[in-house]
Amino acid sequence: MATSNNLNQRRILLGITGSVAAYKSAELARELIRLGADVRVVMTESATAFITPLTFQALSGHAVHTTLLDEEAERGMGHIELAKWADLILVAPASANFIARLNQGLADDLLTTLCLATDSPIAIAPAMNQAMWRDQSTQENIHALSNKNFHLLGPASGDQACGDTGPGRMLEAPDIIQSLYPLFNSGALQNVNITITAGPTQEAIDPVRYLSNHSSGKMGYALAKACVDAGANVTLISGPTSLTAPDRVNCIHVLSALEMLDASLTQATNSHIFIACAAVADYRPVTAASQKIKKDSDSLTLNLVKNPDIISEVTSSQPSLFAVGFAAETENLLKNAEKKLARKNLDVIVANDVSQSHCGFGVDINEVALLTKDSKHSLPASPKTAVAEWIIEHLAPIYHSWKTNKTHG
Ligand code: C5P
Repeated sequence: MATSNNLNQRRILLGITGSVAAYKSAELARELIRLGADVRVVMTESATAFITPLTFQALSGHAVHTTLLDEEAERGMGHIELAKWADLILVAPASANFIARLNQGLADDLLTTLCLATDSPIAIAPAMNQAMWRDQSTQENIHALSNKNFHLLGPASGDQACGDTGPGRMLEAPDIIQSLYPLFNSGALQNVNITITAGPTQEAIDPVRYLSNHSSGKMGYALAKACVDAGANVTLISGPTSLTAPDRVNCIHVLSALEMLDASLTQATNSHIFIACAAVADYRPVTAASQKIKKDSDSLTLNLVKNPDIISEVTSSQPSLFAVGFAAETENLLKNAEKKLARKNLDVIVANDVSQSHCGFGVDINEVALLTKDSKHSLPASPKTAVAEWIIEHLAPIYHSWKTNKTHG
């Protein structure tokens, strides 16, 4: 049964060990990359006798790692970093020798060391002669690895390169890929292009001063991560914050509301969902003084002009976008959020109560309700990372049924 691709943006460390089936791994690497996975290859020494690292370097676009104590490789992505980088280690083909070493917990080469050092799942696709597969030691090792939650993919049965017939053939690349889908999350927003605005904006008064607000950007950044984890392609348009963009997110840094508008209009042309999480400054100085304003007089009047409403501009320029806004309110939370949903012509609004000091702006906790014009879900105060995951869990089905209605409506 075909399963929808949830490999987009996944980081797969493909381990190749010494087996004639290594030639099939070239097709496997190619197909994983075609499905959007980021693939890095590690080969054992004996694997290089069957197929060259250059083949995988050309296919993956990255240097192939072959040795544990390679100073140059350690200066790039060292072995611990590589183990942490991977969302999954897939060893295909996995030889009888490798399987035995893996079960022993040995760390006598780069690949076994990575398998010990990773917290991510490990899948193995055995490939060996049918007698070696049937051998009691191999069977004990396989049994033990299954009990330790390693994912066993295959082997298949049939004609073997050595002329024998029986179990031990490595699965074909499409079958390995089918077996990987269940190892990842739901892929609730697989391949969906999402643009998110986050953080405050800074509106220049003069070269050294600006108007801004207390937004930390934490909610928008957590949403970006939750979207990537659900398989989306994410662009984060961020005002100035002290945060580091989550991995795999394309981050565009801006300062002012006008810069954020510009970047949003550009990104929206290529997006399916637009999430406006930024706390855009409502007003900006009509002109920013070109020189630092002197404090000669006792008072200073700033002439302010209203900033454009970014999400409204985006939805009017791209009416086919699914638009999600936030409403930070201190009173009449739901009523005000409903009004904003209608006024800004949004599909979803996330209402958050910022009346309590432990919730909302600048802190790690948020309490939200997610509203559409005909549904409402609420979440009690929770860490922003959990809030982000909760929002995406609820948003994804709303988006998909909106899309289906739009197509058939
Ligand atoms: O009107 P209010 O600022 O409460 O609306 C909040 C929502 O509108 C948020 O989603 C925010 O990111 C978005 N917004 C915007 N551009 C503005 C002001 C708010 O996109 N200038």
